[in-house]
Amino acid sequence: MSDKVQIRIKENGSIRVKGTVEIVDADGNVIETKSDFSLCRCGLSKEKPFCDGSHKGNFEAAEGLSS
Ligand code: FES
Repeated sequence: MSDKVQIRIKENGSIRVKGTVEIVDADGNVIETKSDFSLCRCGLSKEKPFCDGSHKGNFEAAEGLSS
């Protein structure tokens, strides 16, 4: 198993993160994560920074980044 973290931009959706990472908010607080999760890219999630599926049918990515 690779120790590389994979970050995958989903088509018109979230940013999938596979691997162990540490997310730190603007105040320096560490946000607990699993080793496989999705970050919100659309701004609609009520669970930010995580994706809650709200993007489905409501988000169109900018061209050139897995639009
Ligand atoms: S990308 Fe899924 S809710 Fe924003």
